[in-house]
Amino acid sequence: MSESPQTLFDALAEDYESMREEVGWNPFVHIREVFENSVLSGKAILDAGCGTGECTRWFQSRGASPYGLDISPEMCFKAAENSENIPYLCHDLSEPLPFEDDRFDGAVALGCLEYIPNIEETVREFARILKPNGVFLGCFERCGKDCPGGNALSVVMFDDWVRFRLPENEIRAMILRHFAHAEFKRVPGFKLTDDDGKETGKQTQYLRVIAVV
Ligand SMILES: C[S@@+](CC[C@H](N)C(=O)[O-])C[C@H]1O[C@@H](n2cnc3c(N)ncnc32)[C@H](O)[C@@H]1O
Repeated sequence: MSESPQTLFDALAEDYESMREEVGWNPFVHIREVFENSVLSGKAILDAGCGTGECTRWFQSRGASPYGLDISPEMCFKAAENSENIPYLCHDLSEPLPFEDDRFDGAVALGCLEYIPNIEETVREFARILKPNGVFLGCFERCGKDCPGGNALSVVMFDDWVRFRLPENEIRAMILRHFAHAEFKRVPGFKLTDDDGKETGKQTQYLRVIAVV
């Protein structure tokens, strides 16, 4: 029986930041590539699936007004504990976003979209809450012959973690149904381990999307 992402991430909140290297996941690679040279001062940024708020705080340090959102109450508590003047909301991205249209200049969703089964509604919501020319940065898990797990649309990894995946052409088409422009790049996801926790040398693969409304 698989556990819900909320249960899983509640349990991981305390040690999450120190686990990053272990699992080979670094959202800053993408955040920096996309936003390092942008003027962020005064920009409203949604960090969706913000975890402990490390990226959320980075946006604040660059002068932006970030807003963190996560399904896990423990992650939200941890993020709030480590932050000043950043709102954090406990919310499930499978549900409509509780924000008015055109509320944000940017939205990022890193390391979290693979836990959402019906992702198209979520993508539509990101487009809705972004201002015209607002930027979305997200990573979608790919399936395909060249990916660990093959063509399976969902896959169980790391004990009981069910992750949802899509063929690359479906991800591209879905994004372009809701955004005017998009740039796609294949990037490495998580390192995989065997039943004893030993690294297998395999890594999941994401399709990274930078899209503009
Ligand atoms: C791997 S962590 C990534 C955290 C952060 N974005 C980072 O890159 O370090 C995934 C986060 O997504 C959150 N998450 C998973 N499913 C979610 C959902 N349906 N709605 C909101 N957050 C979700 C988890 O609670 C967790 O904090």
